[in-house]
Amino acid sequence: MSIEYRHEITVEDYNALRKAVDWDAVEPGQAREGLRNSAYIICAADGEKTVSHARAISDGGYVVFIADVIVHPDYQGRGIAKTMIQEILAHFTSELKSGQRILFNLMAAKGRESFYKQFGFDERPDESVGAGMTRLIIKP
Ligand SMILES: CC(C)(COP(=O)(O)OP(=O)(O)OC[C@H]1O[C@@H](n2cnc3c(N)ncnc32)[C@H](O)[C@@H]1OP(=O)(O)O)[C@@H](O)C(=O)NCCC(=O)NCCS
Repeated sequence: MSIEYRHEITVEDYNALRKAVDWDAVEPGQAREGLRNSAYIICAADGEKTVSHARAISDGGYVVFIADVIVHPDYQGRGIAKTMIQEILAHFTSELKSGQRILFNLMAAKGRESFYKQFGFDERPDESVGAGMTRLIIKP
């Protein structure tokens, strides 16, 4: 196995990865726009096969959201997600100037909190901050 990292993914591969980890597919038009407007995408490829995906959405200032961190089950446990998160963190922090900051945000899937803690993410809520919150609206 020879893993290479790339910075693009097709809608088909993106939804196939979602399906591989039992996540709902995203309607293709929305998936295309979401991928196109992401500030940074990183995927692992084994030959022609895309085996992972992660991306970041940025305001161009100090707020970055990490989304859709997925490694195909056949490729989990080999350090691929770790490399993707490290690459995302490096991408947004390598050019920071003194006094500047980046706030990385993400919503951990159930049981994945400790995976992110190794990169310095703090779990919410704690004594000083409240829980992260989301609201999903699906048009019937
Ligand atoms: C969570 C997920 C992305 C991890 O991917 P992965 O490539 O298997 O992870 P890695 O091999 O890079 O693991 C790196 C390190 O994190 C640890 N780790 C992996 N999954 C973990 C978990 N669920 N909880 C705690 N630690 C975890 C590994 O033990 C490894 O530690 P080490 O460096 O000390 O050996 C993968 O299991 C996945 O795609 N799951 C389904 C989708 C999902 O839940 N995504 C997260 C959404 S928030």
